[in-house]
Amino acid sequence: MPTTAETLARTGGQPLSHVLFSEAQIAERVHELGEQIARDIPEGEDILVLGLLKGSFIFLSDLVRQIKRPMEVDFLIVSSYGAGTESSGDVKLLYAREASVTGKHVVLVEDIVDSGTTLNRLLPILEESKPKSLEICALLHKHIAKNLVKEPRWVGFDCPQEFVIGYGLDHSEKYRNLPFVGVIEP
Ligand code: PRP
Repeated sequence: MPTTAETLARTGGQPLSHVLFSEAQIAERVHELGEQIARDIPEGEDILVLGLLKGSFIFLSDLVRQIKRPMEVDFLIVSSYGAGTESSGDVKLLYAREASVTGKHVVLVEDIVDSGTTLNRLLPILEESKPKSLEICALLHKHIAKNLVKEPRWVGFDCPQEFVIGYGLDHSEKYRNLPFVGVIEP
């Protein structure tokens, strides 16, 4: 399918190889995830949704509106990729949340679980603060992570072994503003 003019306007002329998950598919799945999370966390207990920046910012903003419960929202900034398309394994915590984790049901929101390095480094740090529960909601899961300390409880879509962009995911900081998840031409 040829890349539309609207998409080319957003990518600066870079054609896409293909769209993996459309805007409509994502909206439907995010709605389901929100309902599932609201059902799975016990009624009346504190929820803290923690977004991993920058990749999760669009997913998180759509997701929290589909979790129809009281909650707090905060963010973490870690970085594991440089300008390339391979995870370097070097995770840096650049910003730590202000919200207290202790005693809350923490939903850690990831755009994608790739090598698993980010989660494997981050989860033990968050566990130290004694959340009541700590679960991961990932939009995309590649299922290639070895020795993942914890599997995501809620997953939007299984993701093929391709470099995906859009809906918050970047390549060298570009393409985050595409409303769908796609693959760029090599
Ligand atoms: C990406 C992505 C995930 C992580 C997944 O973040 O957003 O957080 O890598 O990869 P892993 O499972 O191999 O650790 P990145 O470090 O590129 O930063 P960004 O969210 O700012 O794009």
